[in-house]
Amino acid sequence: MLNIKDLTIKFGGLVAVNELSFEINQGEIFGLIGPNGAGKTTCFNMISGSLKPTSGKIELDNENITGLPMYKINEKGIARTYQNINLFGNMTAMENCLVGQHSEMNSGLFSSVLRTSKQRQEEKEAKEKALEVLDFVGISDRVNDISVSLSYGEQRLLEIARALVSNPKLILLDEPAAGMNLTEKNNLMNLILKIRERGVTVLVVEHDMKFIMNLVDRICVLNYGSELATGLPEDIQTNPDVIEAYLGGS
Ligand SMILES: Nc1ncnc2c1ncn2[C@@H]1O[C@H](COP(=O)(O)OP(=O)(O)OP(=O)(O)O)[C@@H](O)[C@H]1O
Ligand SMILES: [Mg+2]
Repeated sequence: MLNIKDLTIKFGGLVAVNELSFEINQGEIFGLIGPNGAGKTTCFNMISGSLKPTSGKIELDNENITGLPMYKINEKGIARTYQNINLFGNMTAMENCLVGQHSEMNSGLFSSVLRTSKQRQEEKEAKEKALEVLDFVGISDRVNDISVSLSYGEQRLLEIARALVSNPKLILLDEPAAGMNLTEKNNLMNLILKIRERGVTVLVVEHDMKFIMNLVDRICVLNYGSELATGLPEDIQTNPDVIEAYLGGS
């Protein structure tokens, strides 16, 4: 489904991602791991369209999406969450989800002014969709609470809900378990499995090794922007290069 080929980005003299290639199959839960500064978030930024690669190619279902603007890539079916929570703090959970749906609403300015029945119908459907995803991630009791009043774990779930609102084929989760306690992490793992059951393919960055190894089908390991290894969790865990990169040899 997603085909990354020789993806490279340079910031001045720093090659943050260097000729990275991997493929993700439809229905897969795919992990991207690596030490701090390895280039994982930069990779997400290129796939989701917030950074343009210096060279290389990104294909979604055989269509070249390299360098398209973020809203276009979202329309093509890729949604993401952020490593640093990126919600509108003074808006409710529902409102944060409605903001995510603008590209889905089709009625133009003219009908907005007149509030046509088409627009009222779209608003109704957008609200229903938001309620569905908020319930799906397990925070239906927080629908009308402003997002800063949600716990850290709930805010992470709200970010996932907001990403799901656009009906993506592929969701990118950047450290979704960061700051969660063990119970929240277990619930999150079940939620990610449920996301796959919905028909959404998952690419996840996470530092918690137990979490990632138990969750994903395959893993790509990045180190200093380059691919160190790609494979099954059990092979990655015993790969000497990976152990060296994480533990410094001993
Ligand atoms: N916009 C930018 N301009 C300049 N350098 C950048 C930019 N974005 C990222 N970098 C650099 O690129 C490298 C990779 O950063 P990135 O955030 O992708 O790492 P990461 O693997 O997500 O790390 P972490 O696990 O700490 O989140 C780092 O050296 C970072 O400082
Ligand atoms: Mg990061």
